Amino acid sequence: MTVDGKITTRNFSPVDFTSREDKLHLFRQRALADAVLIGHSTLKRDNVRLGLPKTNLPETRIARSQTPYPIRVIVSNEGKIDHRLKIFQTDISPILIFSTTQMPQNFRAALREKATLYLTRHRHVDLAAMLRKLRSKYNVRTVACEGGATLFRSLLERGLINQLNLTVTPYIFGGANAPTLTGLSKEFLPASVHCSLIDMRVVGDECFLTYRIKHRH
Ligand SMILES: NC(=O)c1ccc[n+]([C@@H]2O[C@H](COP(=O)([O-])OP(=O)(O)OC[C@H]3O[C@@H](n4cnc5c(N)ncnc54)[C@H](OP(=O)(O)O)[C@@H]3O)[C@@H](O)[C@H]2O)c1
Repeated sequence: MTVDGKITTRNFSPVDFTSREDKLHLFRQRALADAVLIGHSTLKRDNVRLGLPKTNLPETRIARSQTPYPIRVIVSNEGKIDHRLKIFQTDISPILIFSTTQMPQNFRAALREKATLYLTRHRHVDLAAMLRKLRSKYNVRTVACEGGATLFRSLLERGLINQLNLTVTPYIFGGANAPTLTGLSKEFLPASVHCSLIDMRVVGDECFLTYRIKHRH
């Protein structure tokens, strides 16, 4: 996130505004999780594989009795996910797609070759039910959500986030139409979310923050 709270530019172009250190930080966080979670727009725009770099990270996972790579989980209500995206060309770990029966039949057929589909009859994916499924069927204990803002906001609203890793990068973008951490919605969150700072690390001009999220129940 930039100093003024933006996570991308107004045209949502894949901008590279963080350091090597931050990218490494992202990989380390990803490597801790049993599953990584991503929203359809971020997957489409950034065309990420959600793997790990050629370092000792997969070995570290095996030593912790994890699979070498985290399970990759995509969420989409409409389900029009392009099967030619890079993620589907890498066979490092299972890919699960949580979507709805709005997903057109031709997309289902193409995606079933590459991923396991969970389609609900409701209009929206039930994120809590998705997490329960990940736990019961795939033994997932920790999930790293890599955004985007829309998905992060929905998880936050439902009280499903317990930790936020936030890197403040030394830029100011400005612009009302560039999304912030919680997106572009002008709506307030149902209740303000209280964060408690549990770690802070400064490297160069960047600040790596770890917050515990306190939800009111
Ligand atoms: N700076 C950073 O660290 C960072 C991190 C991540 C992303 N980004 C940027 O953020 C931008 C994308 O933002 P965004 O808010 O559009 O991202 P997003 O959350 O990745 O994507 C939104 C889409 O994901 C699906 N989705 C999200 N929440 C859902 C839910 N609760 N249930 C079902 N489906 C859900 C929907 O897909 P369908 O439309 O298919 O229904 C929705 O339209 C990109 O430009 C990306 O580069 C930046």
